[in-house]
Amino acid sequence: MPNESGFAPRGLRADVVESALAGLIAAPKTLPAKLFYDAEGCRLFYRITNLPEYYLTRTETALLRSLGGTLLPDGLHDAALVEFGGSDETKARFLLDLRASSGEPVFDTYVSIDVAETALTDLRQRLAVSHPYLMTVPIAADFMAPLRLPPLTGDRLGFFPGSTIGNLDPGAAVDFLGAARESLGPNSWFLLGADLRKSPAILLPAYNDAEGVTAAFNLNLLRRLNREAGADFDLRCFRHQAIWNAEAGRIEMHLVSACDQTAQVAGHTIMFAEGESIHTENSYKFTPRMISDIAAAAGWELRSVWTDPANYFGVFLLRHG
Ligand code: AVI
Repeated sequence: MPNESGFAPRGLRADVVESALAGLIAAPKTLPAKLFYDAEGCRLFYRITNLPEYYLTRTETALLRSLGGTLLPDGLHDAALVEFGGSDETKARFLLDLRASSGEPVFDTYVSIDVAETALTDLRQRLAVSHPYLMTVPIAADFMAPLRLPPLTGDRLGFFPGSTIGNLDPGAAVDFLGAARESLGPNSWFLLGADLRKSPAILLPAYNDAEGVTAAFNLNLLRRLNREAGADFDLRCFRHQAIWNAEAGRIEMHLVSACDQTAQVAGHTIMFAEGESIHTENSYKFTPRMISDIAAAAGWELRSVWTDPANYFGVFLLRHG
């Protein structure tokens, strides 16, 4: 029933209804991973980042902390740090705190692009206290959409930590890096954090932890659809599944139907057979060569790679000449 805000009954979120229905009437069924991040999804994701099995965040954080100024290209000064998906400045702080040999901070501007408007407001307030000299420019936008940055006169360093690049299919990853290159302009730099290929014995528990937080994160997607897309999913009738797809080189998350059942979504009936899954997320794992190829296809040149001693996670410095 379309209304003035689009294809959604009154009180529902048209964008959520549309993207959910598009995926649920497809075969195989899918839901877009961006729907994970409602308020509860953000809370659960934060818990995931602190789980013992989820090595990604602590490994990347330790790398950024230990590398410090060696991460930056020589001579960077009066620079702008542009974080894509930066609703939380925790990792950016390792860069914002760096000082040039003159003693001046390397970065005088921090642009943070994220859909989470409230989080951006909080971030600006925190940085106004801890980094009063810094010009913080929050941009409430989907970083995947084409974007015009405010005029930035000095050096520019794009920043995309957390292996969020792994949640994009390879073509989308090239498109994203290409669009970021255009937004940042000639002579810019880009620092990318990416999770590396490793044994499924390490990968799988990271996406299926003992405490069940990742399962709750995955199932919360259905709870969100019940609230925002007029759905009536029975969460007890779906189970979380994480698998390693060796051919595609990715972890996949699924919600598997425990029985034959139907669910309503904004007035549409969706049928599930027992064992049928909704594919909710891909998390690609990379070799340095793959990152170099994706970057090159997007017009970037790989200049440096750093990894932790166990080779779990990589930080990649790219250059657009
Ligand atoms: C945000 N992103 C990099 C996470 C990942 O590891 O792919 C999302 C996530 N999904 C389940 N656990 C964490």
